[in-house]
Amino acid sequence: TENTVTVITVLGASGYLAKSKVYPVLWTMYRKSLIPRSSLFVGYARSKFTSEEFMGRLRPHLEASEEDATLLDKFLHRCEYQVGTYDEEESFRKLNEYIDLRVAAKGKLYSNRVFYLALPIPVIKTVTEHLSKHCQAQAGWTRIVLEKPFGTDLESFKSLSAHLLKSFKEEQIYRMDHYLGKEMVQNLLLLRFGNRIFHSVWNRNHIKAVIISVKEPTALGVYNTYFDQQGIIRDMIQNHLLQLASLVAMEAPLTPKADDIRKEKLKCLRCFEQVTSDNVVIGQYTASADHCGYREEEGVGAASNTPTFAVARLNIRNDRWDGVPFLLKCGKGLNENKAEVRIQFKENAGEIFNGTHRNELVLRVQPKEQVQLKMDVKQPGMSFDTAQTHLDLSYPERLQLAAAPTAYERLLIDVIQGNTTNFLTAAELEEAWRIFAPVHADIDARKIQPEAYTYGSRGPESADAFIKDAGYQYEQYDDKEA
Ligand code: BG6
Repeated sequence: TENTVTVITVLGASGYLAKSKVYPVLWTMYRKSLIPRSSLFVGYARSKFTSEEFMGRLRPHLEASEEDATLLDKFLHRCEYQVGTYDEEESFRKLNEYIDLRVAAKGKLYSNRVFYLALPIPVIKTVTEHLSKHCQAQAGWTRIVLEKPFGTDLESFKSLSAHLLKSFKEEQIYRMDHYLGKEMVQNLLLLRFGNRIFHSVWNRNHIKAVIISVKEPTALGVYNTYFDQQGIIRDMIQNHLLQLASLVAMEAPLTPKADDIRKEKLKCLRCFEQVTSDNVVIGQYTASADHCGYREEEGVGAASNTPTFAVARLNIRNDRWDGVPFLLKCGKGLNENKAEVRIQFKENAGEIFNGTHRNELVLRVQPKEQVQLKMDVKQPGMSFDTAQTHLDLSYPERLQLAAAPTAYERLLIDVIQGNTTNFLTAAELEEAWRIFAPVHADIDARKIQPEAYTYGSRGPESADAFIKDAGYQYEQYDDKEA
């Protein structure tokens, strides 16, 4: 209502996540009027900055065209800063007083409050406790947003999760996986359940293998001890890639509403068998001519065996999928930037032509959105020779993407609108920890050592053989993409 103002508080405001992701998104949302221009932004952290100094630190991370320069100034002036600790109640009492004062100063009676926790794991418990006790809106709603890491193993996850639920109600907690905010990821449900032609072939009778691969050409994110403690499986595979896998594999939800989708995803995750070390290849990059090896990176232990690459083979033990390998592959310091899902179909039975190929449906999430269907046609001419080619739906040639918000924008709008569809439940996360528990245990006990691969290469050599053995046929032809 007119009497209510939205207050977005970023805890950990001086940190990397806040500067590089959260504030740029808040700025874009403000600029595009996706959130009311009257909203208040409060940064909170331990570092002693004045609001002026804080503004100065944010500015280089926010892009603005010339005509938006004045608007950016306005936005920055709304980005206030409060210094405080993460463990003392007094700090949170003060934070609450401050928010109340700011709301009153805007002439508003009520506030809706978002607390974005861009914080390291060790402080999450005390912070959520104090927030719950001292900073909830008296009239209006209060929501908290958190991102991974949600613990380091099943036990620490459960303890964190139980703790959160003591402080906040489930519907107040927004556990974020930013891949769920990506356009092509959201498209998966529509593509699968909105197109009749896919229904009858989407199962083990017709599908040979599914591969989900996210390749990063840089070492982004490894420059801190966080990555070294987590490794690529916790950082990417058991969340972003597993979420993609569950969207490919789940049964149709009753409706596209949050509860129905989340119910089906959970049911599907429960069918995933645990991954043992026989079912992974892990790798770690070594130096190339122009980039250092992983162990020489800042913040990384000199004898670290943390994987920067992994491919895992998963089995879904249900009637639809049992026996179809779901290959989840991901790595840093690789040869290209690509995120995609490939559904590879079985070959023809009773083949009458010479050498047809497996059909493949490719859903490209990054670097640009594409849907492609690989298929065989007749080689033009007198013979019945086959030629492999593909149907190509490349955005933005065919569909307008301009208006589509980015992942973080979309998810933050969802938080403000109270839409939980694209956020994780505790039960889903618990399944993710269960699925990868054996392999984490083996890596942590150094029972598996990562295989070396050169920075900028395709990854460790055994990965290709592993993928091939699993049943996925890697085929490249002389055609664009696909
Ligand atoms: C983050 C990981 O969740 O996702 C990073 O922590 C990774 O390590 C990033 O680089 C990749 O996200 P995107 O959207 O660029 O594919």
